[in-house]
Amino acid sequence: MIKQPRIPLLDLILCLSHIIDLISSDLSNHHKRVAYTSYYIAEAYGLPQSERNRILLAGLLHDCGALSLKEKLAVADFEFAYSSTDRHRHGKIGARFFDNVKLLSHIAPLIRSHHIYWNERDDPTIKDGVQIGCHILHLADRVDVLLLDNQQDILLHNKTILGKIKKESGRMFSPELVRIFEQLAQQECFWLDMVSPFIDNILSRKADLRIIDLDLEGLEEVAKLFYQIIDFRSPFTATHSVGVASCAIAISKLFGFSETERRMMGIAGYLHDLGKLAIPAEILEKPGRLTNDEMTLMKRHTYYSYRILEPINGLETISQWAFFHHERLDRSGYPFHLGFDDLSLGSRILAVADIFAALTEERPYRKPMTREDTISILRQDAEANRIDTAIVSMAERNFEQIYNQMSIAQKAATHDYNDFSIAESPDILSPS
Ligand SMILES: [Fe+2]
Ligand SMILES: [Fe+2]
Ligand SMILES: [Fe+2]
Ligand SMILES: [Fe+2]
Repeated sequence: MIKQPRIPLLDLILCLSHIIDLISSDLSNHHKRVAYTSYYIAEAYGLPQSERNRILLAGLLHDCGALSLKEKLAVADFEFAYSSTDRHRHGKIGARFFDNVKLLSHIAPLIRSHHIYWNERDDPTIKDGVQIGCHILHLADRVDVLLLDNQQDILLHNKTILGKIKKESGRMFSPELVRIFEQLAQQECFWLDMVSPFIDNILSRKADLRIIDLDLEGLEEVAKLFYQIIDFRSPFTATHSVGVASCAIAISKLFGFSETERRMMGIAGYLHDLGKLAIPAEILEKPGRLTNDEMTLMKRHTYYSYRILEPINGLETISQWAFFHHERLDRSGYPFHLGFDDLSLGSRILAVADIFAALTEERPYRKPMTREDTISILRQDAEANRIDTAIVSMAERNFEQIYNQMSIAQKAATHDYNDFSIAESPDILSPS
């Protein structure tokens, strides 16, 4: 009998933030450093622990609304947009991910306005009012883009960063926050910790978020949030993980999995393509087959997810189910080249669910496949000993039931996606 997982929320968010920044070496650890700097400023400003924790979480996720690599790199420019509408766009999109997540809705207002200039603070078009946390995040974020801009040792160019920040005191940044930052900046350890390879440990020790453990229900909620951040980057993948989750739940039920195991299977489905966050959206929605180079890049996605989530105690079973979905029984899969004996029934079910969902979905280069074509491709893979014949036969015998369950779940996800994508239209970004 599998035990219900209990997972520290902070560990999961640290993993997510790590993966988001893998998309480009130019952004490496940006989210973690912004969380770090924000936390120290918030502490020196005298904000209570709960508020510091909120700012830290927002720092770890603040740019998740910058959906394409182009936009991610654009916002890494010190003064990247002169119109405030453009500047706030990704914050507004990002905040939408968190608005309805019980555990994280408190960070949405900070993410929404994390590019607020100090001299815009009374702007009536900014929703939610502007909180000091937004100004702290903005300052920390801009410190980091200045840091990313220079490959020299941090102690050789920290004075240049401080100088640029001070120049913007009263316009981009609050004079009081700039003073606090200037004091922190006098200590070498402040800068060395910021770029330290041990930044995860530093953040974990600072924040008392370790005590927030997710039970199965909390984990499901966070996994659903993660799937939206992964899949809503493109209309072509918007319902993919939901489809995989619901297909895997349906097949695992047919194989006698308990209710807890089925829910864990669903979580594995939501998370299975987590590593795609490290793949530019431009590749994910390419209107044609991928080149060999693009395919090679794509092959990293399960590797990243597995290795990054590996240290989390209690997530082992879900990780194996989720991140072995491109492994094949004859060891021709990737990236670990595992074989039948290495793959649990859960991992084998998820591999079939991933193919089942992908074939029945539309892609930029093809229409959804029919029942016959889907079954025929699954059968070919099973006959070639790439995927499990027993699972494929079970899926074939119960096709309608699995497909209908998947369609219901995907319809609900389409509704959520349409709701979300309204945030990308200019209307929501204009004054209200
Ligand atoms: Fe940003
Ligand atoms: Fe940022
Ligand atoms: Fe995948
Ligand atoms: Fe997938």
